[in-house]
Amino acid sequence: MPAFGQGMLQPAQINDLTDYVLRLSGQAGSVQAATRAAPLFQTNCAVCHGADGNGLRAMGAPSLRDKVWLYGGTRKEIHDQIALGRNGVMPTWEARLPSDTVRALTIYVHELGGGEATPAPAPAAPADPAAPSIQPPR
Ligand code: HEC
Repeated sequence: MPAFGQGMLQPAQINDLTDYVLRLSGQAGSVQAATRAAPLFQTNCAVCHGADGNGLRAMGAPSLRDKVWLYGGTRKEIHDQIALGRNGVMPTWEARLPSDTVRALTIYVHELGGGEATPAPAPAAPADPAAPSIQPPR
């Protein structure tokens, strides 16, 4: 996640967003500050965390509404995450682990997550009525 404190948002805006996130996660925070921050959240944060703050898996962005925190859920920790960002990047293990170990870990982690099946394929596109119909040979 980008460091919004480095020129993207003003300190007062980051304080307001901190209250917004505190309230999203069910903690005490200023209602006035959170109200000021609501449009800021939609403009700057919703693209990754979702309009409702539930997180977007495809972006790797966690839910801000639950009690699960990667970096801590206190006012200071939330503020610092917004201001400083983390650019959470996992190190690469390709050169450090043999490929069969990576494969075994993949299966292990997949099981840890409940072993969800791959998503169902998208439904087939409806037939185009303008397309020429193919007639069987007579
Ligand atoms: C480009 C995508 C992106 C945007 C935009 C973004 N975030 Fe994040 N955010 C992330 C990711 C990914 C993480 C997980 C940690 C990391 O990698 O930095 C995160 C983590 C967080 C956390 C810490 C959550 C925890 O569990 O500790 C907070 C709080 C947060 N974001 C708030 C915000 C706010 C407020 C904004 C808007 C000002 C914002 N984020 C914008 C991607 C984003």
